[in-house]
Amino acid sequence: MRLPFTAPWLLAPMEGVTEPCYRELLLECNPPEALGGAFTEFVRVLDRALPRRVLEKHLGPARFAAPVGLQLMGAHPKALEATAAAAVEAGAPLLDVNFGCPAKGALKSCAGSAALRDPALIESALQAVARGAAGAVPVTAKLRAGYDHADDIEQLARAAEAGGAALITVHCRTRLEHYAAHTDWTRIARAVEAVEVPICGNGGVSSHTDLEAMRAATGCALVMVGQAALGNPWIFSGERVSRARAARFLLDYAALLSDRRRTRPQGVAGRIKQLLRHWTAGDLLGADRFDWLHEKQPTALLARLEKIAGRP
Ligand SMILES: Cc1cc2nc3c(=O)[nH]c(=O)nc-3n(C[C@H](O)[C@H](O)[C@H](O)COP(=O)(O)O)c2cc1C
Repeated sequence: MRLPFTAPWLLAPMEGVTEPCYRELLLECNPPEALGGAFTEFVRVLDRALPRRVLEKHLGPARFAAPVGLQLMGAHPKALEATAAAAVEAGAPLLDVNFGCPAKGALKSCAGSAALRDPALIESALQAVARGAAGAVPVTAKLRAGYDHADDIEQLARAAEAGGAALITVHCRTRLEHYAAHTDWTRIARAVEAVEVPICGNGGVSSHTDLEAMRAATGCALVMVGQAALGNPWIFSGERVSRARAARFLLDYAALLSDRRRTRPQGVAGRIKQLLRHWTAGDLLGADRFDWLHEKQPTALLARLEKIAGRP
């Protein structure tokens, strides 16, 4: 089935980050020919179907040309199937299934990275979601390279293909490697060789030029960016922004969180600092990085940003 992405570079699903406010800002910063699509945070499906209104909340308003896929994580076939059907009704343009989450809660219920130890679980979860989607939207898979080694990446990719995935994202770190700085892109190339469906490479992209470099090195069709996009929202377009523009992005994010999500000041400051820990855009942080990250008062943090952004 045709994939709805508008460009080959995608924003990764990130729990605690890629809710509708953050995605909206990213999609505003990058035109659809630069950022081809984004994903919700993972939506946990236990033994019961999730109602449509919960899924609509994760999806948010569809204001942009680039699609936002809904990511599900679960292992209960009936619940996955019914949730997928509700997601299609909620307007999801694509359904992705998470086989990478390293959290203990996911492992306990055989979801997320637990499936990396049992490829049959990958196949059955994807088949369940595909039954619910009933051909209305594409179903995709997001894998890590393995649980504690990457020897079986081909087998994992083939299981996803057999389950009906229209695209397989391969995060090239294993569960054991968590978010280690070193990444091995040859694992992505091995998945490309193993299956017919397109592969989206993921893991360790740190700059705009890395996007094309990963495609050239691995033969993958698309590239997904996680942490580097937290530090540089313009990584997809490659635009180099000023210090003031970088500060304004963070202020806009703070305003959206507080106005729309009613996030309290401490929570807003926590979100801003989460981005600042990765921040590279506009040379915003210099030798004073430590001071930014240890600023205790939310109002003082915003005042620092306002001073740079040039607001009163
Ligand atoms: C804060 C955070 C939250 C994440 N949440 C999810 C998630 O909800 N679903 C998922 O499939 N992957 C999740 N991931 C993994 C990313 O999607 C991505 O695979 C990973 O960060 C590797 O890409 P990178 O090296 O570009 O960061 C998360 C990563 C981070 C840093």
